[in-house]
Amino acid sequence: MSVQDTGDQSRRDFLYVATGMAGAVGAAAAVWPFIDQMRPDASTLALASIEVDVSSIEPGMSVTVKWRGKPVFIRNRTDKEIEEAKAVALAELKDPVARNANISSDAAATDLDRSAGEGKENWIIMVGSCTHLGCVPLGQAGDFGGWFCPCHGSHYDTAGRIRKGPAPQNLAIPQFEFTSDTVIRIG
Ligand code: FES
Repeated sequence: MSVQDTGDQSRRDFLYVATGMAGAVGAAAAVWPFIDQMRPDASTLALASIEVDVSSIEPGMSVTVKWRGKPVFIRNRTDKEIEEAKAVALAELKDPVARNANISSDAAATDLDRSAGEGKENWIIMVGSCTHLGCVPLGQAGDFGGWFCPCHGSHYDTAGRIRKGPAPQNLAIPQFEFTSDTVIRIG
């Protein structure tokens, strides 16, 4: 009797320990990918800022580059596109704030303050993420000739300002600077 009891007890202990071990291994496996993702490796750090040579982007053309995992639009606007954006009264804008990380956070969304600034108004650099739910808008499209987000129909003008549709804000302008006449550093 007592021998059998001991045997059962041992088996229960063994099963308990085995279950406990499996649980511990499972938890460790589940946690590891998060830790691994949170630790910035060399390639992530290197992408904290990027430099883009824009010398081959002609007026009317744009490129999309990847920065910190996000698309960034760089567009060389034509004179006509600049004039169209300049002609819009601020009162007509759904979002009257510039959303430009390079200037004051309450600056108005004038065409100049949405662009790369005095003398470089032809350039517009923006994070390519629709302010509605984050889809990537299409360039040179939509009712205002700027960008169009087909997910739910948001139209942005040639200064990247939201003009129609559900998106609440203008496309965000990241920190950037021209390190020469033809090279932009983003970030
Ligand atoms: S995500 Fe762009 S309109 Fe909804």
